[in-house]
Amino acid sequence: MAMWVFDDLVEGLFLVLLFLFLTITFSVGFEHAFKKKACRFGPPSYPFIGCLVSFYQNRRRLLEWYTDLLSESPSQTIVVHRLGARRTVVTANAANVEYVLKTNFSNFPKGKPFTEILGDLLGFGIFNVDGDLWSSQRKLASHEFSTKSLREFVMRILEEEVEGRLLPLLESAMEKNEVLDLQDVLRRFAFETVCKVSLGVDPCCLDLSRPVPPLVRAFDRASEICAMRGMAPVYAVWKMKRAFNVGSERKLKESVQLVHSSVREIIQNKKRKLEEDRAEGDGGDLLTSLLSAGHGEEVVRDMVISFIMAGRDTTSAAMTWLFWLLSQHPPIESAIVAHVDSLYRNPLDFETLKEMNFVKACLCESMRLYPPVVWDSKHAAADDTLPDGTALREGDRVTYFPYGMGRMEHLWGKDRFEFRPDRWLEEPEADGGGPLKAVSPYKFPVFQAGPRVCLGKEMAFIQMKYVVASILRRFEIRPAGSNRPVFVPLLTAHMAGGFKVVVRKRSGGNEP
Ligand code: HEM
Ligand SMILES: *[C@@H]1O[C@H](CO)[C@@H](O)[C@H](O)[C@H]1NC(C)=O
Repeated sequence: MAMWVFDDLVEGLFLVLLFLFLTITFSVGFEHAFKKKACRFGPPSYPFIGCLVSFYQNRRRLLEWYTDLLSESPSQTIVVHRLGARRTVVTANAANVEYVLKTNFSNFPKGKPFTEILGDLLGFGIFNVDGDLWSSQRKLASHEFSTKSLREFVMRILEEEVEGRLLPLLESAMEKNEVLDLQDVLRRFAFETVCKVSLGVDPCCLDLSRPVPPLVRAFDRASEICAMRGMAPVYAVWKMKRAFNVGSERKLKESVQLVHSSVREIIQNKKRKLEEDRAEGDGGDLLTSLLSAGHGEEVVRDMVISFIMAGRDTTSAAMTWLFWLLSQHPPIESAIVAHVDSLYRNPLDFETLKEMNFVKACLCESMRLYPPVVWDSKHAAADDTLPDGTALREGDRVTYFPYGMGRMEHLWGKDRFEFRPDRWLEEPEADGGGPLKAVSPYKFPVFQAGPRVCLGKEMAFIQMKYVVASILRRFEIRPAGSNRPVFVPLLTAHMAGGFKVVVRKRSGGNEP
């Protein structure tokens, strides 16, 4: 606690110094000193400090602010200037998104300003590198993610986790009439699953009576602090704190050290086991495959940390919002339950899950409105021009914005704010069954798109369908309060304060 106060003090002090410097340099208040220079489309901007004033005024509603600005722009693209940051082009234009993510992919790496934010935690892992470092890992990982043995392993883990831990946990909350934070439960579930798949170890975090394991806490803290780095209006602040090893940056360093040393230990144990009984080498998890293929320890460490980081909070965020949306739309909830019941088989297998198109439609619709990753940035390696005519200079940041895109009228129509899963179906009348519409990934880039599309997309849908189907056919999930939840975008988005629910038996519901 004391550390956080100290942290705010350092930050406050820095901002005060900055503003003093600005005022002295220009002798008059900046807001009056310059004639407002309106950017072509974008927030009001002043020389030198750029949009810092409007940025500050809107800091608690950035998503809505950007979405409004984007819908007012004729090509859904705006330019943002901030002190100490690159000129940033934010776009919700599908043609621009396709250009950046696919057509001229090689001109749009993540770039240093972004990889710096996560670099301390992710090292040279796939999630956080560009160029050759990225493409060689991508090739390797794509192969690993597409094997039949991994799919079978994932199905085994899901059955173990859902039947053995998640459903009993809900059952017990129901019997005790307890209020449960479903978001927390789903986050623990997702972490446990991705840990088992990536590392082959069980972090045991779904046992709510036990304290959160240190590895999980360290991961949480590290990603939270990195997210704060990314949200800071002035980057120089965290860089200065890191240089002096104070406040949040010191906490980050400690957490990163804990994550790295825990993963290193897991790797060394696994290596020892592999050497002891070569015959039984195939544990099915990604770590075992990577080590068996002879890759170096450091590379493997960074890769699995990237997988865990990428695969942990995303699926839980998507499912949390879906459960809330369903609780607000009883007819859709009944439809999805009927759909699941008509297909259900025990245990759920891969083929059955593939047929659950209506569950997938509901998940996509939920992620359209509440995308787990609200925005993502690239940096132009060389001067370029986007399809809508926006000129880019080397080093400019280009941000594609799935949250805003899900709320653009020209992409989704007048009913864009409504939860309507049937917009994803080829034949909306056909009671939830039937084929899904083909929707361009550049119009719906929640998994990114193009060569760097999310590697875990298929795994994520399998996992989410398994969980949603299993929970819904047995239980009714009802919000414990009547407050409208608040969507907070950190590194991955979540529901502020958690999602407090009561669990009831579904009437006419099904035995486990
Ligand atoms: C609903 C769930 C998910 C969503 C919405 C999602 C979304 C995304 C997005 C937007 C990116 C690009 C991020 C960036 O480049 O900065 C990404 C990359 C990635 N995702 Fe996912 N993801 C999900 C689940 C998963 C899962 C379960 C895994 C499995 C471990 C996973 C593994 C990865 C990996 C390894 C990358 C990096 C790919 C690369 O850079 O080549 N994701 N994901
Ligand atoms: C792609 O990017 C390069 C700069 O790296 C640029 O010269 C070229 O015009 C761009 N356009 C296309 C269509 O490749």
